[in-house]
Amino acid sequence: MARLFQTLIFAASATRVFASCAYGTHLMPRAEGEVKVSTFGYFGANGPLNWAALALPENSACATGTNQSPINMVEEVFQVIPAADVTFEVNDMPDGAEFENLGTTVEVITQGGRLVLDNKEFALQQFHFHLPSEHLDNGTSQAMEMHMVHQAEDGQIAVVGVYINIATEAAPAAAKRSLSSRSRLFGRQENVTAPPASSGAPSTLLETLFSVVDQISVPGSKVTTPPLVMSEVVDAVKAGSFQAYSGSLTTPPCSENVNWRVSTAKLNVSPASFIKARDVIGFNSRFPQNAPGSPNILMVSALGSAAAAVSVAGTAPAA
Ligand SMILES: *[C@@H]1O[C@H](CO)[C@@H](O)[C@H](O)[C@H]1NC(C)=O
Ligand SMILES: *[C@@H]1O[C@H](CO)[C@@H](O)[C@H](O)[C@H]1NC(C)=O
Ligand SMILES: [Zn+2]
Repeated sequence: MARLFQTLIFAASATRVFASCAYGTHLMPRAEGEVKVSTFGYFGANGPLNWAALALPENSACATGTNQSPINMVEEVFQVIPAADVTFEVNDMPDGAEFENLGTTVEVITQGGRLVLDNKEFALQQFHFHLPSEHLDNGTSQAMEMHMVHQAEDGQIAVVGVYINIATEAAPAAAKRSLSSRSRLFGRQENVTAPPASSGAPSTLLETLFSVVDQISVPGSKVTTPPLVMSEVVDAVKAGSFQAYSGSLTTPPCSENVNWRVSTAKLNVSPASFIKARDVIGFNSRFPQNAPGSPNILMVSALGSAAAAVSVAGTAPAA
């Protein structure tokens, strides 16, 4: 498994396949000054059923891997770890951050942060968004999911996943705007009454970020965000638990041995900001994979068998 992973890493960097989950890591280094648009997608010939075929053998794990992500997060598949016990830090970005449209997601290039798992240090590289969520929260899809991608010195990747739902409670300062957009969202004019108290207010980080997402509506474009305060997200995550399992990148090359830490803490986004983000991101969620250790879904199809055959042939010289 380790050798296969190494082979995939080598193959992926050699052929410059661009992936949102991996972009900005050693798998897909960023090119200074330009935003590389992904070559894979979520529809038709570029969609998840065909990811392996887009680039064999480097993407073969997409069709043959047995620890693929995302998955349905049901109790049997993860270990619960109190987040308060985990070193998880993200630097604020007082001068703003680079916010890029990769064609397959929108991604913030971070400026420092760390996650320590079993005494191993992972450095934060970037965070990006999927819509709707990729992991299912005990069977249920959430409006969005944020992936905070970390990398260790040896190249191993760890991702903190945070679900995002649509706020039904207005942020104090933005109450008026949010309420009027709720009426628009539901296409009716009757007065909006007080939302349930439990739903939570929109995240300031997400509101700040998505206030400029319409400025990167074109794939390949980028913008500098307003100042980003990350402590809100860190505090929220630290107050919850991590659901931990070993999976894969959810984008090509679908490399495995990825440390997933899905947070039980959820963020909220206002309806207006959700609409702005949705209009730029579109749909970018890989279908749920089989539980860890089970055969790849695609192995029952010709797609998987073909990828397996090429994978064996392609990795042989490296063995
Ligand atoms: C998950 O959903 C099932 C029903 O589908 C329910 O019985 C169970 O309590 C839920 N678990 C959690 C942790 O919410
Ligand atoms: C809705 O609000 C308007 C003014 O804000 C008020 O005149 C009207 O009576 C309200 N309608 C209902 C059904 O509460
Ligand atoms: Zn991702």
